[in-house]
Amino acid sequence: MRLVLLGPPGAGKGTQAGVLCKNYSLMHLSTGDLLREAVKNNTPEGVQANSYMDKGELVPDEIVAGMITEKLKKEDVNAGFILDGFPRTKNQAEILEAALNELRLPLDMVVYFDTSEETILKRLTGRRICRACGKIFHITNIPPKKEGVCDACGGELYQRNDDKEETIKNRIEVYNKQTSNLIDYYQQKKILNKASGDLGVDELFAVLKNTFERSGLI
Ligand code: AP5
Repeated sequence: MRLVLLGPPGAGKGTQAGVLCKNYSLMHLSTGDLLREAVKNNTPEGVQANSYMDKGELVPDEIVAGMITEKLKKEDVNAGFILDGFPRTKNQAEILEAALNELRLPLDMVVYFDTSEETILKRLTGRRICRACGKIFHITNIPPKKEGVCDACGGELYQRNDDKEETIKNRIEVYNKQTSNLIDYYQQKKILNKASGDLGVDELFAVLKNTFERSGLI
């Protein structure tokens, strides 16, 4: 299964990608995670990306597209993958299509997480991530057993730099201006499926499982 998860910041793409990858043995490719790793390692791409990410702006297409196409070519993605946070512009969508055509691995489906602004704000302001293993928590929705400590590995939980209220507002604006038109783009390609991002993690998984079954993907 080859999927793109599309939706506003905080829609739950990363969380649901984790669930789907575990259930269907897919590879999770998140441009946000790749960029944060590059920033942490102080790579030339990371240094360039950092100032955009801190403001909630999109990192230039050539940096992000370069990272993801390299990953697609290098990793064994034949068993299937989930792209989370990519593409985010029409240009990125076209670069992706060309790269996947070259690999003869076209997309099966784009799932759009339709999510209310109230949900987005609550989720992003309460998100906490494990510094060691990257597991995602939420202070009230998906709280860790012990405050500030990862259930999976005991690592320290932290709040992302761009999860401050001002930056969140800009990220939502950037999404509305630069990314939301991909909904129409993929609708025209007849591979778009819509699901409510407001649902709980398990409810959303049940809806997606049903969609995959109906589409013959599982
Ligand atoms: P990125 O990391 O991709 O951020 P994003 O798209 O803003 O998405 P988020 O990670 O904020 O949210 P999510 O939908 O994954 O939600 P999550 O599952 O964590 O990108 C960061 C930055 O990198 C961008 O701003 C940009 O600068 C740059 N960038 C990345 N990709 C780029 C690209 N292609 N082009 C250019 N620049 C790019 O969940 C959020 C919270 O809600 C968590 O606390 C979670 O526990 C909770 N939660 C999740 N699902 C549920 C649920 N169903 N019910 C209850 N709580 C839930």
